[in-house]
Amino acid sequence: ERSWQGIIKQYRDRLPVCANCPDITLLEGNTPLIPSTKLPQLFGKGLKVYFKYEGLNPTASFKDRGMVVAITKALEQNKRTVICASTGNTAASAAAYAARADLKCFVFLPRGKIALGKLSQAVMHGAEIVEIDGSFDDTMRMVIKLAALRPEIELVNSVNPSRIEGQKTAAFEICDALGDAPDIHILPVGNAGNITAYWKGYKEYHESKLSSKLPQMLGFQAEGAAPIVKGKIIENPTTIASAIRIGNPASWKKAVAAARESSGKIDSVTDSEIIEAYKFLATKEGIFVEPASAVSLAGFLKICKENTLAKNTTVVMTLTGHGLKDPAFSESFFSSFPHHQIPPSIDKALEILENAKKR
Ligand code: F0G
Repeated sequence: ERSWQGIIKQYRDRLPVCANCPDITLLEGNTPLIPSTKLPQLFGKGLKVYFKYEGLNPTASFKDRGMVVAITKALEQNKRTVICASTGNTAASAAAYAARADLKCFVFLPRGKIALGKLSQAVMHGAEIVEIDGSFDDTMRMVIKLAALRPEIELVNSVNPSRIEGQKTAAFEICDALGDAPDIHILPVGNAGNITAYWKGYKEYHESKLSSKLPQMLGFQAEGAAPIVKGKIIENPTTIASAIRIGNPASWKKAVAAARESSGKIDSVTDSEIIEAYKFLATKEGIFVEPASAVSLAGFLKICKENTLAKNTTVVMTLTGHGLKDPAFSESFFSSFPHHQIPPSIDKALEILENAKKR
């Protein structure tokens, strides 16, 4: 086999697609499992820490893994139209794969709550955009109803089982790269599809004896948008991490089951913990993620503080989306970083270089 050909070709025997399924891949998957250099130094204990950098998928988030399968299945069933609700990344991915497959794509978005990069993608990939004066949960309710009323339209949110099937391949890749499952897997939880998918993937590899153990699944929500942690629907979820600003996750029960079956947990982190992790990843690890993705590291830092990690633990954190998705968020930090404006003068520039030495 030559170079990487996408998750369907790589894991075809573990995916529900027919042998001669339409080939619409953008070569999603095969994302790097980047070792952390700083965290094992900081926390010792023989920790091995990795980032599964899903921001390097074709549309810069993990959604592409699920979307390539969902769109392939839509084509197999001769559907011509797809629909989704989204905080942005699902919309961007659905729009891109629908464009490639010549399908009509409708995306329902909570108005004014979508990061600019994601909106740009949905627009440029030619999706028809329906902005709703409401929350993500309102848009989700709408598309579920619409898909029921119009069965000829395929719903491509993660309530569609094909999405989960595609996204479970990230767990396969991690096991393939490490030679086994990690001890702990940490990821952000929004609509709760991804934790459902990873847990399914880890269980399948374990059942096939391709890994010797199952990881503890640790899912983290943002404190102001933590319905699972609080055990109740949040009517007006708030967090800077717009991707996971969700008050009534569609896969709520499956996320709880993943945490329980794996002896893990669903917990929450504060916005300031998310921001600290976001800055750490960018300034110390050289990895730029969107705020929701920094939730994984914020969760890791929280469990390190709780001091519950055993020695020689292998930890994998999913970094779900690229930092360029949300330029307005990073822009809010520009004034707090060293920044100079000078005329084209070598003397002035030398002054800056000299002053930097003193800092
Ligand atoms: N991280 C990012 C960057 C996301 O976009 C999402 C979800 C999550 C984490 C949470 O994953 O929903 O499977 O628990 N984004 C969805 C969307 C809701 O519409 O793009 P989840």
